[in-house]
This record gives sequence, structure tokens and C-alpha cells, in this order.
Amino acid sequence: MISSLSHYSCLLALFILFLGNYVVAIELPMADLSGVPPFNVTQKSLLTFLKLGDTVKFNVPALYVFGDSTVDSGNNNFLISQAKANYIPYGVDFGDGKPTGRYTNGRNEADFIAQIVGLPFPPPYLGLSDIENNTLHTGVNYGSGGCGILSTGKNYLGSCLPFYKQIDYFETTINNLEKRFESKELFDNYLSKSLLFIDIGNIDMSSDYDGVGSTIFRKYTVPQYAQIVAKEFSKSLERLYKLGARKFLVNNLGAMGCIPAQVLGQMNKTLCDEKTNGHAVEYNKVLSEMLPKVQASLPGSKMVIGDAYKVLVDAVTFPAQYG
Ligand SMILES: *[C@@H]1O[C@H](CO)[C@@H](O)[C@H](O)[C@H]1NC(C)=O
Ligand SMILES: *[C@@H]1O[C@H](CO)[C@@H](O)[C@H](O)[C@H]1NC(C)=O
Ligand SMILES: *[C@@H]1O[C@H](CO)[C@@H](O)[C@H](O)[C@H]1NC(C)=O
Repeated sequence: MISSLSHYSCLLALFILFLGNYVVAIELPMADLSGVPPFNVTQKSLLTFLKLGDTVKFNVPALYVFGDSTVDSGNNNFLISQAKANYIPYGVDFGDGKPTGRYTNGRNEADFIAQIVGLPFPPPYLGLSDIENNTLHTGVNYGSGGCGILSTGKNYLGSCLPFYKQIDYFETTINNLEKRFESKELFDNYLSKSLLFIDIGNIDMSSDYDGVGSTIFRKYTVPQYAQIVAKEFSKSLERLYKLGARKFLVNNLGAMGCIPAQVLGQMNKTLCDEKTNGHAVEYNKVLSEMLPKVQASLPGSKMVIGDAYKVLVDAVTFPAQYG
């Protein structure tokens, strides 16, 4: 608890520094943190929190992760880019308190899912040692901050891994892994039970559409553009299916307009930028109509949407509930 509190004040100090002119808006939530869910929760406490009972058994041999900064666990540390989370206070509540490349103080969504199903945190693909690359079978994280579905791999911050590149790496991973299985049947079974967790599209529907220096997509209306992005996404799902994947957990887009970077630059201190949130809502509508159709067209596949939008709005609307 003491260490959490000191991290907390360190975070706040940084926040105030960063905000400059906007200091007035800051209120210090130095409430009693003892009722707050601990940063260091266990699998058991997560299962209890989710009301799944603490003895539930998951038959998930591996977790493969794709996406942007919502899931990146360190891939961008290996790229030439300014979009890196390799400095304090990132990581203060993770492991030994050093930054890992995750864009958060502690674990990210992918880590929590790994923990829930009882797997190790999937390591970043670009950081794998030769030994890990040739022995690991519990999953890998291909997420890359700042990248999206239509991304080229270059943006105004440097390089990143677009979705297609992440899938290329996944293909390399499984081709390499297949050799270590006794039979193709066993390998196919392993892959069909593995969970693919995908959180991508946030960049497509925000900075790649109407951010600094982006021009190519602005000719489309938001609904047209959402269709184009979703279409490309569905093609990528088909590609993953052809490679042998069957179980997909796809997060919809979060309320991106509520992230500090979107709001702090505004003169009007609204809680969220509604225009950006509108882009996410539009895409999420298309995604929720499309995903069941993709599932129906790919026999044996299971596709589930995670409602990241709702989670983020909830956290912004009722912050006290989460400390
Ligand atoms: C977090 O959990 C690990 C493993 O259970 C433990 O060793 C560590 O002391 C915990 N850290 C904090 C800050 O509670
Ligand atoms: C992992 O091994 C495969 C097969 O040798 C290789 O193609 C790939 O580049 C390696 N990946 C990493 C991250 O080292
Ligand atoms: C800021 O708020 C003022 C007063 O409510 C309003 O007139 C103006 O349009 C707002 N500006 C933006 C960019 O939302």
C-alpha cells in the first residue's frame, strides 16, 4: 500500500508538470485507497471479481495478442519511434517497477486476460530471445502502439507494426511452432483452442483519419471510412482463420475522446471530446453488425466482442468506483 501511494504522488507530480496552464483543473484524489482493487490482484481474485468462481478451468493453451497501445507490451521499444512507453511512470506497478513498454502503470488488457485464463503474460514478439522464440508455446504479443488496420507502418512518430505485419509475425510464430508438435492434428487442435485477442482500429478512427498530417482518408465521411476499415479488418480475420485460428476476442473501440491527450489540448475543458467518441461509436456499430456475419462465414469460428467503449466511459463517469 505504501508503495502504491508513493507511486500515486509521483504520477500526480508529473501530471501537474505536464499540464502547465491547466493546473487549475486538477483535483487530487488522495482518498483512502484501501477500498480500491489492489494493483497486484491474483488470478483467484480476478475470477472472484468476475463472478466466475475461483476453480473454473480454462482450456486455453495460448493467448496471441494483436493491436495498438492498448495491448503493446514492449514491441515499440524495438522500433524507431517516439511512440514508446519506456519511461517512468509507465510500469511503476508492474514487476520491479520499471517501464516495460506497456502504456500503463501496471498490466494492460492482454495481461489481465492472460492472468484470468492462467497463462503467462504474452511477451512482445520483437523482444523474444532465440530460446524463447524456439520454446514458447503459451502465446506472443504483437501489439504496437500507434498502429492500426490500414496503417502503413510509418506515421509522424516513426515506425509501428500495422495489423497485417502483426499477422505476418504470427504466421512466422506458428510455422516455427508447428515443427515442435508430433502431428498436424495435435497442432491444429492447439491452434483452434488458442485465444486471439485483438484490440485495433483506435488509430484508424482517430489520428490516421483526422490527426496531424493525415490527409488521405479525409475525403471519406466517417460512416464511409468506418466501412472501409471494418472491411479490411474482416479480411484480416479471414486470414487468421486460414492460418488455423478459431477463437477470437475482439475489443470494440474505446471512448478515445476521453483519453487525456484528446481533451487536454482543448480550450473547453470537457470530460471527453464527443467528435472523436462519435468516430468510435460509428465504427463499433459497423463492427457489431459485421462480426456475426464473419463468424457465420467461417465454420467452427467463435467471435466475441469485448465492450471496451463501455468500460472506458464507465471509468471516466464513475472514477471513484475505481479509486
Ligand atoms: C505483487 O505480487 C507478487 C507475487 O505475488 C509479490 O511478490 C509482490 O510483493 C507483490 N507486490 C506488491 C506491491 O504487493
Ligand atoms: C523466430 O524463429 C523463426 C524461425 O527461425 C524466424 O524466422 C524468426 O525471425 C524468429 N523471430 C524472432 C523474433 O526472433
Ligand atoms: C467552447 O465553449 C464555448 C462556450 O460554451 C462555445 O461557444 C464554443 O463553441 C466551445 N468551443 C469548442 C471548440 O467546443
